[in-house]
Formats: sequence, C-alpha cells, structure tokens
Amino acid sequence: MRTVYLNGEYLPETEARVSIFDRGFLMADGVYEVTSVLDGKLIDFDGHAARLQRSLGELDMTNPLTRDELLAIHRELVSRNGIDEGMIYLQITRGAPGDRDFVFPDPDETKPTVVLFTQNKPGLANNPVAKQGLKIISVNDIRWGRRDIKTVQLLYPSMGKMMARKAGADDAWMVEDGYVTEGTSNNAYIVKGNKIITRALSNNILHGITRAAVLRFAREAQMDVEERNFTIEEARDADEAFVTSASAFVMPVVEIDGTKLGDGTPGKVAPRLREIYLDESLKTAI
Ligand code: PDD
Repeated sequence: MRTVYLNGEYLPETEARVSIFDRGFLMADGVYEVTSVLDGKLIDFDGHAARLQRSLGELDMTNPLTRDELLAIHRELVSRNGIDEGMIYLQITRGAPGDRDFVFPDPDETKPTVVLFTQNKPGLANNPVAKQGLKIISVNDIRWGRRDIKTVQLLYPSMGKMMARKAGADDAWMVEDGYVTEGTSNNAYIVKGNKIITRALSNNILHGITRAAVLRFAREAQMDVEERNFTIEEARDADEAFVTSASAFVMPVVEIDGTKLGDGTPGKVAPRLREIYLDESLKTAI
C-alpha cells in the first residue's frame, strides 16, 4: 500500500481523507503538478515548483510550502514508496470551508488542502510506446481561456482521450480557430526537414516544463526551432510530429486523423530529442 502525503502527514493511502466540502472536489478550485522520477530522482523539480507557485498566484492562493519543504516531501515519498521510475502527483486546493459557496473563503480561516502521492511506473524511460509512436485525432478545443494555469479541471482533456480511444487512436490534439493548441495532456510539435515547429506560449496553452527543456536542448544541438501556430493540415503533411510532457518525456506521433506521417514509424528527430532529454535531464535530476 502506498504512503501518501496529506496536509503535513504521511499516511497509508486508505487513511488519507479530504472533506466533501473541499473546493477541489466541489469546484475544481485547485492546481496540480506532475513530476517524473527516474533513477529515484526528480526530473525538472525546480521548473515544476516554479510553475506551481505561478498557478497558485494567478488564482490568489498562497503556497503553504517553501520550495525546500516541497522537495523534502517529494523525496520522502519517493523513498517511503521505493520509487525508481514513476511520477509524483501534487495537488493544492483552496481547502474546505465547511459549506458550499462560490465566494472564496477567507485564507486565514480556510487552509489549502495539500495532497501528494506517487505513481510507480517501472520502465517509464524505456516505454515501448516510444518505439511505435502515437496515433492522434484532432478535436475542438473548448476549454476555458486560462490554460496556462495548471488547474485540476481536466474533464475535457479526459473526454478528448475517450474520443481518441473511440476512434481507435491514442490521444487527441485540440484545435482552436483552425490552429493546434496542444495535446490533451502534453504539448504538440511538428517537424519539417530540420525544423521543429510548436505553438508559442500564451494563455491558450500550458507552459510545459518538458517543452522548455526540450526546446533548450534542441537549440543547443543546433536544431532549428520555430514557435508559431500550425494547422492540422500542415501537421498531416509534416515529416514527423511528437508530444512532450513530464510523464511521456518526448513521444513520437506517427498518425494524425488517419494520415500516416512519413512511413508511419517514428522519424529521426523525435527519438533523438527523447534520448537527449532523458540523458540531459537525468544529469540535473535531484
Ligand atoms: N500534463 N499541456 C497540458 C494540457 C498538460 O496537461 C501537460 C502536462 C502538458 C505538458 O507539461 P509538462 O511538460 O510540464 O508536463 C502540456 C500532465 C503530465 C498530466 O496532466 O498528467
């Protein structure tokens, strides 16, 4: 049984309980982070901690934990649960005011709810799916306008994954005003020749921590990076495509809306970026 963290305590997962009045439960009033673990170490921890701080700030929530406290909890959970490869999920909600009310509770009276738990995923780095690549479909992006805040409102991304599954695909890319925003739980890229194309940062997409690292490594490796909008038509005509996220790292995409990219197998750029990302981020893992 997992040991999880809830509001200052380490507990067996079956004993960790949150109020029915928690605003995360009633209103999706909360934010989260997913940090991967490789070789028992945290990948891009400081990036995730910084984005958490930003998400909380954008929602007028205070962070009850310092960066060092957060790191200590992550490490304690990795150690208590014997995680070599996997993920740490962290969620902070505006807490449980004891009733349902749209108005935010007084932060002096209602403390945030802090939950962290581990997900053990042996073989995460050597995921066989990376050799095959993903089939994706496109769906309309009907989410709200602050996708840069990593909130727990994940109903539409869940529905997107279900639409993909129903269509015999693995995942979905969301499209708004004719342009791809991002994947249901990842950032989206296409490759044309030696050029990596991905949407620029704005409130319309999550500012992926993996995205930032991968683009930095790509530029350091003298690859061309263009941050601009692209359409599904352009993507279907691309040489390669891929997605990035803390749980998938760099994952090739081999089919979009039924059209195979190239010969329908992962190309050269995405697998190379995956290798570089795994090597480089392990060097700075803590
Ligand atoms: N998802 N875009 C969306 C909509 C996401 O949900 C995620 C992450 C990303 C990639 O961000 P990062 O590289 O920081 O993981 C982009 C996480 C992994 C999840 O929901 O499980």
